[in-house]
Amino acid sequence: MQNTPNNSQPQVLSESSLERIQQHSAAYWHERMYEYGVALGLAIVQFVAFSVYLYGRRGFYDLFIINKAFAGVAAVLLGIVLLLGPLGRMFNMFDKYLRFRKELGIMAFFFALMHTVSSLFFLPGRFPLERYFTTGKWPFLFGLIGIVVLMAIFAISNNRAIQRMTAHRWWFWQRWGIRIALAAVALHVGIMKVPGWIEWYRQGGSTQLVRPEWPGLGILIAWFMIVVIVVRIAEAINIKVGKIVWYSCVFFLPVIYLATFIWGRQFIK
Ligand code: HEM
Repeated sequence: MQNTPNNSQPQVLSESSLERIQQHSAAYWHERMYEYGVALGLAIVQFVAFSVYLYGRRGFYDLFIINKAFAGVAAVLLGIVLLLGPLGRMFNMFDKYLRFRKELGIMAFFFALMHTVSSLFFLPGRFPLERYFTTGKWPFLFGLIGIVVLMAIFAISNNRAIQRMTAHRWWFWQRWGIRIALAAVALHVGIMKVPGWIEWYRQGGSTQLVRPEWPGLGILIAWFMIVVIVVRIAEAINIKVGKIVWYSCVFFLPVIYLATFIWGRQFIK
């Protein structure tokens, strides 16, 4: 009888295949670190820019302001994650950025979590707990839905979950989770802030602000979120419509920002 390899015996790996496996896993971890590094870098750049803007507008910097910056970073990162999908489908040049979606989503979750924890427990003077169950219950409910959904997506953002759920179902939950989170955040912020934003366009900011002529950071982020939603809807209708809407947004978003700042000049004290 011929001597065949016995599968039940542990096989000794040759030195070259061991080296290949090590190189493969080293390359894998190098890539993961790079992706997290880019996502973290983007979040930090935004955090610094938002902090500088909020400080310039209000003239002070404390946890109240930091909390706004946390919330802004989380919302913008969520918006970017949701924009990358349609952009990747419409233009080849965005394909290379699709690999960052998971890491950007995870970063959005951590910033949203820091915002949630500081809003709930560390700013009782600004946001007393009872407010979340009385006058502020609807924004609170939608904020809570947003953070719980992001937490659920985060919990399944690993290879073991993909294997257990099958890739098809995993994608389904990721896709719908992030959409539900964005809708919840839009309602969370919209209910709380839209009246104040309309007020700013009518009369400028409060007299306590150092620069009442500057729009609130939330207004600027809201315009970006509108772009995200409009581009997604347009691309879902048709790729051609999506492209036209994307080019229009690339032109109109800076115009809207510029017009908003020019409009604010009438409120200079
Ligand atoms: C996915 C989760 C969440 C996101 C992305 C998010 C995002 C935001 C954004 C963008 C703002 C507007 C900030 C501004 O311009 O003033 C905001 C405000 C606020 N959020 Fe959230 N939020 C989330 C969850 C929560 C939760 C669970 C709570 C509950 C404690 C909460 C409490 C607040 C409060 C109190 C404000 C008003 C902040 C202020 O006026 O300074 N948020 N949030």
